[in-house]
Amino acid sequence: MRSIEEVEADQSISDFSAEYSKGLPGAGPINMFSYVKHGTTPYGDRGLRDFFLYRDLGVAKATGGRILCHLVKANMAPEYGTGWHRHQLGFHIVYMVSGWAKFMYSNASVHVGQGDCVYMPPGISHYLYDYSPDMEFLEIESPVESLTEDVEPCCDIPHPTPWPNQA
Ligand SMILES: [Fe+2]
Repeated sequence: MRSIEEVEADQSISDFSAEYSKGLPGAGPINMFSYVKHGTTPYGDRGLRDFFLYRDLGVAKATGGRILCHLVKANMAPEYGTGWHRHQLGFHIVYMVSGWAKFMYSNASVHVGQGDCVYMPPGISHYLYDYSPDMEFLEIESPVESLTEDVEPCCDIPHPTPWPNQA
């Protein structure tokens, strides 16, 4: 029997997977097995927003940059939120692990609560404007490297909810 580290380093698994999935949407040449154990990778500030912390789950490396899978959690109270923007992505979902966040999608306000999942069609204008102190969501995007563009506002944004420790 091999160790999980040996399986992770096994290039033949990647090669077989590339051949096996050839022609399927989302397929690609790099397909390393990845196992990221709970608590072994840290949260850090290497993400799009300085008011969030990000924990990479290893999928970007395992897929050679095809798919990003990370956890995003609140780090500072909401002030101005993300602003109106859109991403040059082919695929984008958010799954709320804990707490809640309020988004504008086009001109609709959506309270995304624990257990909720949002699929964002490529190019949709959106704005994350409020979130709870315990907010944490899983975000899956493809590809890993993408452009985020500011867009014209679709409508006015409600004020964020102060956190309990705020004056
Ligand atoms: Fe976004």
